[in-house]
Amino acid sequence: MRLSIVLLKQVSQFRLTNYIPTRRIPGNVLLGKHRVRRTLSESEKLDMQRRIEIELENMAHLSRPYLTEEEDNLYENDPIRKEREEKALALKRRQEEIPEHIYLKRDLLDRVSCWDTLYEGELNNFNEFGDEGEIWFGKYILTKLVDAVCRLVIDKETTTILDIGTGNGHVIQRLLSRGYVHLTGIDYSEKSIELARTQIGSNIQFQVIDMTASDTSLLDHFDIGIDKGTLDAILLCSSDQRKAKREAYVATVHRHIKNLLFLISCNWTRNELLEFFQPKFSLECEIETPTMSFGGRQGKTVTFLVFKRND
Ligand SMILES: C[S@@+](CC[C@H](N)C(=O)[O-])C[C@H]1O[C@@H](n2cnc3c(N)ncnc32)[C@H](O)[C@@H]1O
Repeated sequence: MRLSIVLLKQVSQFRLTNYIPTRRIPGNVLLGKHRVRRTLSESEKLDMQRRIEIELENMAHLSRPYLTEEEDNLYENDPIRKEREEKALALKRRQEEIPEHIYLKRDLLDRVSCWDTLYEGELNNFNEFGDEGEIWFGKYILTKLVDAVCRLVIDKETTTILDIGTGNGHVIQRLLSRGYVHLTGIDYSEKSIELARTQIGSNIQFQVIDMTASDTSLLDHFDIGIDKGTLDAILLCSSDQRKAKREAYVATVHRHIKNLLFLISCNWTRNELLEFFQPKFSLECEIETPTMSFGGRQGKTVTFLVFKRND
């Protein structure tokens, strides 16, 4: 081999560190007094800290003496703890007793069986807990309705009033408390009439009548009609039946109501309602209800109109 090649090999194998003297660690680097400690990662440190905290908590528990009999009794007879526990127990019992809430299916609202089921549930609730039941459109609209009747129907002693689709009869109850005397409630659900009779009792007249039936001759004639949500329920039928049902309803109202009809709807606008009732009725007035804005437009969640019967 030529000398130049030998020298080149020597140079390429040269490492400076090979020639720096280092101190050899005596013995085992993992154990013993010269062991080299490896650096701990962050997660290992956190884990260790957590274990120390648990250990400290255990030590704190163990360092406490057992409760004496007196202390034990004090805990047993603690009035605040007792009250809290009794309340929790009563709430649990009540929750177990309350029957399952019945949700109405929108597409079944025009069926009498659906309303019967609802009012049967309300009747049980009323008998067991004295619960008044559902107030359609809420207390605010109910108060608006009763106030409007009081403003427009002055003669409380002689005016006859029909609550159309009376439900649980809370409209009649409110009018009774305002001094109206001649009140009648009708509904096509027998359970609704049973519920209203149970809730109100007294000498109020209740009848099972279908407002869309062609023969309503069993029903008397009234000065005033009130409909809170009933036309809405009737028109939740399939679209091919809607026109016929609407016309039948308007014809019945026209046959039996001599003067004003107070109508509250959450499904139909002012203009749609005017179209439904003209020419048999004309608009007497509109009662203000809350408005809402959506997409830059204003609208109402509930429309409240008072119609006057045209002869
Ligand atoms: C939304 S609830 C309103 C109940 C009551 N007006 C109120 O404000 O609490 C509709 C009521 O209309 C009744 N109803 C539905 N269709 C009817 C019909 N064709 N004839 C008479 N009542 C009907 C239902 O049984 C139900 O009680």
